Amino acid sequence: MEYQKILNQIEKEFSETKLSGKVASYIPELAKVPPDKFGMHLYDREAQHYCFGDSNERFSIQSISKVFTLALAMKVVGDDLWNRIDVEPSGDPFNSLSQLENEGGIPRNPFINAGALVVADVLVTHFSNPKAALLTFLHEITGDQTICYDDTVAASEESKGYRNYALANYLKSFGNIENDVEEVLDFYFHQCSLAMSCKELAQAFIIFVNEGTTLESDREILTAQQVKRINALMQTCGFYDEAGEFSFEVGLPGKSGVGGGIVAVHPNRYSVAVWSPPLNPKGNSALGMAALERLTALTGFSIF
Ligand code: DON
Repeated sequence: MEYQKILNQIEKEFSETKLSGKVASYIPELAKVPPDKFGMHLYDREAQHYCFGDSNERFSIQSISKVFTLALAMKVVGDDLWNRIDVEPSGDPFNSLSQLENEGGIPRNPFINAGALVVADVLVTHFSNPKAALLTFLHEITGDQTICYDDTVAASEESKGYRNYALANYLKSFGNIENDVEEVLDFYFHQCSLAMSCKELAQAFIIFVNEGTTLESDREILTAQQVKRINALMQTCGFYDEAGEFSFEVGLPGKSGVGGGIVAVHPNRYSVAVWSPPLNPKGNSALGMAALERLTALTGFSIF
């Protein structure tokens, strides 16, 4: 497959597109990111790299980090995790509180904020230094020791994190947060602040393409069953109330973040990351979704 030709065509097609969407502004630091950044990186199972644009520039991965924390929590606590979080699509915005009320404080899935906060709580319980443990995990799967948190972004989100404070306290009232709410939120804001490029994200997500094993170092990070489950959750819940639309248009498991990044995987073929900061009304990168739709259309294959 001539991936580079296809990426060049996507870059060309969108170079004259008028940007729709708005850069996230509820986290003040994110509002400063130039809206015209655009990059894409595809990493295939033969360890070949294909890219264009700003694919090497680091940006705030935000909710994409929920895939990494979920993977780490599944490794350390196994199936006990599912006593505290469900695996159903929510059909609601990522930061919604409403379903918790009637569902006994059990979040619908690990990718909405409520679920990600429970995952964060699990890691805070399990590790004496959860922030260091998450970085070690990322360094292991990417082979890059320089990936780190952006403390300015974390502090910026904390200063306006009213919704997440409400969610964490509400979960705690149901007994579904074990630790101090402040400690869980501090970890959560830091995981969201992780700065990575499209290239680094595509490299990290290759474990979801390659049955849990890294390509270059050939290390088994996750079991095939864990990968199957995480990919299923990305497919059904990775885009919140736009998960149906993403499946319909792109047809790959994936995860978005309000920094404008999206990562998607084609099991057994490739991982791909795209970055364009302006978001559609559901909080997902408008151009990113369109570019990935073109990728599966031009290659002629998706998982469906
Ligand atoms: O919790 C928040 O609001 C952000 N740190 C992350 C939200 C996010 O990326 C949602 N995904 N599209």
